[in-house]
Amino acid sequence: MVVRVLQFTDTHLFATVKARMKGVDTSACLAAVLEHAFSNHQADIVVLTGDLSQDESKESYINLADMISGCHREIHWLPGNHDCKPLMKEVFSAYPAFKAERSRQIGSWRFLFLDSAVEGRVEGELSASELERTRAWLIENSGDCHRAIFLHHNPVTMDRRREDRMMLRNSEVFEALLAENGGVEAVIFGHVHQDCVQGRGRTLYIASPSTCVQFRPTATGLTIDRKAPGYRYIEFAGDGAVKTETFRVDSLPEGLRLIEGDL
Ligand SMILES: [Fe+2]
Repeated sequence: MVVRVLQFTDTHLFATVKARMKGVDTSACLAAVLEHAFSNHQADIVVLTGDLSQDESKESYINLADMISGCHREIHWLPGNHDCKPLMKEVFSAYPAFKAERSRQIGSWRFLFLDSAVEGRVEGELSASELERTRAWLIENSGDCHRAIFLHHNPVTMDRRREDRMMLRNSEVFEALLAENGGVEAVIFGHVHQDCVQGRGRTLYIASPSTCVQFRPTATGLTIDRKAPGYRYIEFAGDGAVKTETFRVDSLPEGLRLIEGDL
């Protein structure tokens, strides 16, 4: 059995449709991305990997849930650094399509959804309780199955030339925990607003484009990339293989402010 997943990340929605991020209407971008995704792919589950709001407003989560809850019956979600966890929880709990479960089994696959967001900080960190939950999940699902983990922050750098101060701070602890418990097939994240797949040992580290503005690393930091809004489609095969591709809408977002140099 192949498990098919659609990942949408870094939607950065606002309370009002007038608001803009880097000149862009993030709500219009998401609408175009959803249209593309659901007319081209069937999925068993949908995963939203954080930075779902840009202004941390209750209305931004209502806007998101209104836009996506009619597209699929099983939507998993986790927070990013731009999110307000209590508000997300409150809003999403009113939508049956939005699931509160923080792990899921389908066929031979086990999925874990982690919270790497730290209040008031851009960089991520897995708390002691999230690390413990990961350990327990790895032990519990160590038999005849395959495993993948979703979180917001990148546990690996996107460019080895520079230090990434916004990544998962305790990535070494996380990687060691995975290694001690047999590893996982894939770690899938958002945050970096770019498409990148890196193989490390038996694990694929998969970064995904934002549904709005795209970034690319520079030697010293990060800048806006001339790429269209997108999303990721993943097939988790019964033999443990992971096949994935990103898809983008046809054009750059209207009003996008490209800049020279780092953000
Ligand atoms: Fe983001």
